[in-house]
Amino acid sequence: MTESKGSITVGGKTVDLPIKKGAVGPDVIDIRSLYSSTGMFTYDPGFTSTASCESKITYIDGDAGILLYRGYPIQQIAEHGDFLETCYLLLYGELPTGNQKADFDYRITRHTMIHEQMARFFQAFRRDAHPMAVMVAAVGALSAFYHDSTNIADPTQRLVASTRMIAKIPTLAAMAYKYSIGQPFIYPKNDLDYTSNFLRMCFAVPCEDYKVNPVLSRALDRIFILHADHEQNASTSTVRLSGSSGANPFACIAAGIASLWGPAHGGANEAVLKMLEEIGTPERIPHFIARAKDKDDPFRLMGFGHRVYKNYDPRAKIMQMTTREVLNELGVKDRLLDVALELERIALHDEYFIEKKLYPNIDFYSGITLKAMNFPTTMFTVLFAVARTVGWIAQWKEMIEDPGSKIGRPRQLYTGEPQREYVPMSKRV
Ligand code: ACO
Repeated sequence: MTESKGSITVGGKTVDLPIKKGAVGPDVIDIRSLYSSTGMFTYDPGFTSTASCESKITYIDGDAGILLYRGYPIQQIAEHGDFLETCYLLLYGELPTGNQKADFDYRITRHTMIHEQMARFFQAFRRDAHPMAVMVAAVGALSAFYHDSTNIADPTQRLVASTRMIAKIPTLAAMAYKYSIGQPFIYPKNDLDYTSNFLRMCFAVPCEDYKVNPVLSRALDRIFILHADHEQNASTSTVRLSGSSGANPFACIAAGIASLWGPAHGGANEAVLKMLEEIGTPERIPHFIARAKDKDDPFRLMGFGHRVYKNYDPRAKIMQMTTREVLNELGVKDRLLDVALELERIALHDEYFIEKKLYPNIDFYSGITLKAMNFPTTMFTVLFAVARTVGWIAQWKEMIEDPGSKIGRPRQLYTGEPQREYVPMSKRV
């Protein structure tokens, strides 16, 4: 990383600050010495102009609609790669050779089972619990079952924890689903690939044979690839912040899952489907567009807009194609797809959305695809968590292995009461 210098004048004082150059993308001003030099903090709620870390994993150019994993365009990875190859790339920085891939697949596959006692842990939940609530708890609970991989200072334990997490998260996700519908858990089957195994654990029942549909398996694998990492988004930043205190990786990923659950983040695909259901028919779209534009109405078009993409989300284009493949394969004619296509068409021609650069994001189409595959809406964000686990781990690992990393401790602009005297209860009015 090359450096130059810039200067900033505040309160009549000029301070020199290093400017760090990234490989691509905007340069950053290193403001770490600002407080000691000026007594002032910077103020950037929502991190709209703040780089919280240095990273080599994922690059997004939001204006150009570009997403790169370790330098490779998402379109090429989605077309030619598979999800475990993507995991390897994100974790280790390079595409695997044939032997490396075979070894990685083997390691992940051999860790797919979970401690049998975890199955009893599930029984404590109500059947109608949201599967994301179950996932937050179950992933956090992994640290209670796998003590031997929680020492983050030990590289071997870090590797084992990473492998366990990528391998076990589909098993836990499938268990959360099976539990919610009252069906027995299906154990992993290690002669299947990662995504086919997951589909089987979700949809097989012990009394019947289950044949994985390769078109659906490939489509879901591609969905996993598209969701695998997305630089310093809310859940990833949550994982990094949690991990910066030295917390164990299972607890950090549980924190990431909690953050992902929100409708402004991973919960958006569930929210998109609910919105499309509410709209119901293409004729009702103008009413909802008007609501989305109304400042006094909190309604937003779910699946539109993105903090970073001010252009078409490149993942949304691949997702749209995947949706069509799945619907064709299953022979599904979904009226919600018609509503979605018309909504997209109208929004892309509407002055409000054009001016604010609000384009469809990946979640706009993923819900329809997952619904066609028979996943209930409550599982959509869970599938996102399955895919994003590798991104969280890669980012956590990068942070732990960075010798310059510090505990994350943002400061604040305090606008509350200044110091005042305690008032005894008898004297309060
Ligand atoms: N519908 C209508 N108006 C919108 C929408 C939307 N979906 N998104 C943003 N706007 C408007 C805002 O009202 C705001 O208008 P203003 O400037 O007149 O006040 C302007 O566009 C900018 O919006 P912000 O909320 O400031 O943008 P921000 O970058 O903070 O938010 C976000 C990004 C949260 C994704 C937002 O666009 C949104 O809520 N979208 C819907 C939820 C969604 O699809 N989330 C998925 C994100 S992708 C992911 O997590 C995988």
